[in-house]
Amino acid sequence: MKVDIEGLSFNLPGSEMVGDLGSIVFPASRLLAEYIIQKSIKEPNQLNNKNILELGSGSGLVGLASAMVANNSHIILTDLPVYTHNIKENVAMNNGQFSACHVQVQPLDWMQQVPETLEHNIDVILVSDCIYYQDAILPLVRVLKSLSHAQTKIFLSYEERPDKLSLYEEFFKLMDHQFLNKFKRKEIKSCFNNMIYIYEIYN
Ligand SMILES: C[S@@+](CC[C@H](N)C(=O)[O-])C[C@H]1O[C@@H](n2cnc3c(N)ncnc32)[C@H](O)[C@@H]1O
Repeated sequence: MKVDIEGLSFNLPGSEMVGDLGSIVFPASRLLAEYIIQKSIKEPNQLNNKNILELGSGSGLVGLASAMVANNSHIILTDLPVYTHNIKENVAMNNGQFSACHVQVQPLDWMQQVPETLEHNIDVILVSDCIYYQDAILPLVRVLKSLSHAQTKIFLSYEERPDKLSLYEEFFKLMDHQFLNKFKRKEIKSCFNNMIYIYEIYN
């Protein structure tokens, strides 16, 4: 699969499809990738010289976009172990377009303890369409908190699905508590019948 965003081309061969979600490129990730690319032009300092980590990467599109526009950053694309092979393949297919960034793929399951090396060590966290699973709302918020330090910025997108409204409510209630209400809703776009939201969240 080939995706073009803001003049950049992403090769996402998809490789084998494992389960039902990991290899799909969700619309929320296209919009977040677009947002990150535009951000890198308007405010390059937000992405340069940073430790950047994507949670629940799926295809890895958002992390790949940041690798193409950020300078001198260390970028880690993460997902459940079963999907890391596919993400590595997508990284290999696009690495000719990376700017001066070091890109790495590693498993990170929100249900488990965050590895010590990552704890409070991430400057920018990318999260696209991960407010999706009832059982994973609290673990996802915990992981966001564990990765963050005082200056961390989270770029988050999600597609508002009518059957998941209670999940968004629960997620933002928990986030309010953990991140003391430092949210900026930046963009809203429609996608077929659903809305897609992009947030910037500060610690
Ligand atoms: C709806 S998909 C979104 C994928 C991608 N971010 C996008 O927007 O195209 C949710 C992602 O969360 C990942 N995921 C689900 N449960 C997880 C967990 N416990 N730990 C880590 N990742 C998880 C899935 O494997 C999947 O890649």
